[in-house]
Amino acid sequence: MEQIKPQVDTSALPALGWHEPNPLRGNAEAAAIGKAAFNQSCAVCHGQDAIGTRSPAPDLRRIGMGCRRIQDAALRQRCQGDADAFFIKSVRYGKQKFGIVHMPPWEGLLAPELAWALRSFVETAPKGTGIQSLSPTAAATQ
Ligand code: HEC
Repeated sequence: MEQIKPQVDTSALPALGWHEPNPLRGNAEAAAIGKAAFNQSCAVCHGQDAIGTRSPAPDLRRIGMGCRRIQDAALRQRCQGDADAFFIKSVRYGKQKFGIVHMPPWEGLLAPELAWALRSFVETAPKGTGIQSLSPTAAATQ
């Protein structure tokens, strides 16, 4: 099971705990740090730049996506908080099913502030498939 501790400079991030909601939501600098860490440690299973449409592990960009459609601000925040809690719990403790490890735990390899930076990155990562589809005419002339 491949597990690489991310080697990124986190000195720009404040020291944080594990409690949701994500204290770094909307923080572009944190998302950039999260992106670098993601491509070192998570991309091997969840896809480069979090483009998880063809990756062996789930596409993390969809976690909490439905919350954005909630008009009521308080309800939206609660929805995002739930999604954050799910994300952090999965990352801290990993994923096991029937005694089989699907993802190892990351606690100890990731400080909470870096885990939140990862969360900030995946929720703002572009939603495409990363595949440039050929236009019908271009395909026909190949
Ligand atoms: C060795 C492959 C592997 C690596 C590396 C990996 N994951 Fe996972 N991850 C998985 C698999 C497989 C699942 C699905 C497990 C399941 O559903 O039982 C998963 C599930 C998750 C989930 C829950 C998603 C869901 O919809 O159920 C989150 C969040 C997550 N990973 C975050 C991360 C982050 C952040 C990193 C990098 C620090 C990472 N993963 C690195 C394999 C990996």
